[in-house]
Amino acid sequence: MVTKAKLPLTLAVDIGGSGIKVMVLDTEGNPITERDRVETPRPAKPDAVIAAIVGLATGKEFDRVSVGFPGVVKAGITQTAVNLDPAWIGFDLGSVLSQRLGKPVRVINDADMQGLGAIAGNGVELVLTLGTGVGGALFLDGKLVPNLEPGHHEFRKGDTYEEQLGNAALETVGKKKWNDRLEKAIAAFEHLFNYDMLYLGGGNAKCINFTLPRNVKIVPNVSGLLGGIALWRE
Ligand code: BGC
Repeated sequence: MVTKAKLPLTLAVDIGGSGIKVMVLDTEGNPITERDRVETPRPAKPDAVIAAIVGLATGKEFDRVSVGFPGVVKAGITQTAVNLDPAWIGFDLGSVLSQRLGKPVRVINDADMQGLGAIAGNGVELVLTLGTGVGGALFLDGKLVPNLEPGHHEFRKGDTYEEQLGNAALETVGKKKWNDRLEKAIAAFEHLFNYDMLYLGGGNAKCINFTLPRNVKIVPNVSGLLGGIALWRE
């Protein structure tokens, strides 16, 4: 029952390349429902993805909505969506979803939302998400540098980080090679950002099988939803 939960309630939505996940959070960011998930529709065009979110929201009580989107997002408008569909380029997801759900909606990049749910708020913190795509988020003393997009930068052998470490690569080359590549990627990011802490999230972080450096932590995938509360902080 949500009657005792501290209001307002936030519906956190994580749009991924393979699944769309939702969870309701109380005003302090504590989950008050289970995580609910449906497969991402294919083709993943705006109408189909919005219909899936509306389906997941039906029957849940909430006052506002936070969305993590797998692409660059500016002022609620999605600018890229490499793993969804080109129809998202220039789409006003914030306004359209707000109209459909009848609640205020804030949209942010999915890795940025995951980072907001994972960081400690001290020093330089970097987040990398390992899922269908490779996402990233950078923070200084808890302040976000939005839309970092490390996944589409060149990593090695003419491939981007996403081409070497995304889910398709994991399936093609297997866990051993993927882990070797990830170790190299971590070293590259450490040299680039000199972070105090690196957090590894996303659905494939569970495949990591080497000993991580002292300043690297695996965070649960649910941080992607828990970060939703931070979108409403001043
Ligand atoms: C997108 C990023 C996203 C990442 C993880 C990449 O392909 O460009 O915006 O954060 O996938 O979903």
